[in-house]
Amino acid sequence: MVICKKWTLAQRFDGKPTSANFKLVKEDISEKLNDGEVLCEAVYLTVDPYMRTGEARNAVGGTLFGEQVAKVTVSKNPKYPVGTIVRLMSGWRSHTLVKDAGKEILRSAEMSDLPLSLMLGTMGMPGMTAYFGFLEICQPKKGETVLVNGASGAVGSLVGQIAKIKGCKVIGFAGSDEKCDWLKELGFDFAYNYKKVDVDAALNEAAPENSVDCFFDNVGGTFTVKALNHMKTFGRVSICGSISAYNDTTLPTGPLPFFNILKSQLKVEGFIVYRWHQRWQEGEKEMLQWIKEGKIKYKEHVTEGFEKMPEAFMGLFEGSNFGKAIIKV
Ligand SMILES: NC(=O)c1ccc[n+]([C@@H]2O[C@H](COP(=O)([O-])OP(=O)(O)OC[C@H]3O[C@@H](n4cnc5c(N)ncnc54)[C@H](OP(=O)(O)O)[C@@H]3O)[C@@H](O)[C@H]2O)c1
Repeated sequence: MVICKKWTLAQRFDGKPTSANFKLVKEDISEKLNDGEVLCEAVYLTVDPYMRTGEARNAVGGTLFGEQVAKVTVSKNPKYPVGTIVRLMSGWRSHTLVKDAGKEILRSAEMSDLPLSLMLGTMGMPGMTAYFGFLEICQPKKGETVLVNGASGAVGSLVGQIAKIKGCKVIGFAGSDEKCDWLKELGFDFAYNYKKVDVDAALNEAAPENSVDCFFDNVGGTFTVKALNHMKTFGRVSICGSISAYNDTTLPTGPLPFFNILKSQLKVEGFIVYRWHQRWQEGEKEMLQWIKEGKIKYKEHVTEGFEKMPEAFMGLFEGSNFGKAIIKV
């Protein structure tokens, strides 16, 4: 008998997620497999901030969506024998019966001998977000000044390191002194705890006379409005995320950023990483090379236990994760 555990949406999110939003359900998925089908067991799952915003995909009573790294445990498909590691977009579930392997099994990155969990982080969606979202939109040049917030997280820590690889001066903001110490270890030129410092004063110190060329924004809200006031004329801004606003229940009333955008003639562009999906192999290849060369370092915040997925997810909005949030089953 195969019992699948899955986390479903008990009630719609309203403000910060709470345990009342989640319900653990058990489902018997014992079935005789047909030719071509495989049964997979989750090894690592991911929680990401976007799961809070994707309500259109989250029906009440439905399984929460997301990727996982899983192992084939029963196979009627010679392409995926028992033991094969696969990447699935099957949601928050412990077991998955894959009926259409061609569609449901996602292409996995070439991992060399890296930890498999990186397929959900540096070598997966967050890694490609940093790679393409920064390089394509900010177009950083050697000697330029790059600002990134959410800097110790899955995406932000990579953006800062890629900026260093490109020969930029890097300023990072994160939510604790410990996180900032790590950013300095990674080579960030300046790292500030946004909970302790005055953001304007910090930026006047790190980027005097409005000298930020590129701003990679993970946070949104008042931080963004302030940061836009420190940009150089014709600076580039990549709008990646707005985590400070994901749990808002009312529309912000200001201050609004438009005058700062106008006066410094900024190019501001939002993106969804899947716009570059066709080019992911290119990003993965370079990321792998940088990891092997020691130019990119990664940190994972591993929560043990499928039962703790909601806790790990809620922690994203409290800054509880230090590095990419991963669930080890
Ligand atoms: N556009 C895309 O295609 C795309 C793809 C992936 C991710 N994203 C976005 O990129 C951002 C980072 O994602 P990630 O996966 O790398 O997450 P992450 O940074 O690993 O985790 C979230 C972090 O956000 C910070 N945070 C939470 N609430 C905050 C607040 N009110 N103000 C400031 N910081 C806050 C916390 O760190 P501190 O301790 O520093 O506060 C927390 O640890 C998110 O906004 C996400 O939605 C966008």
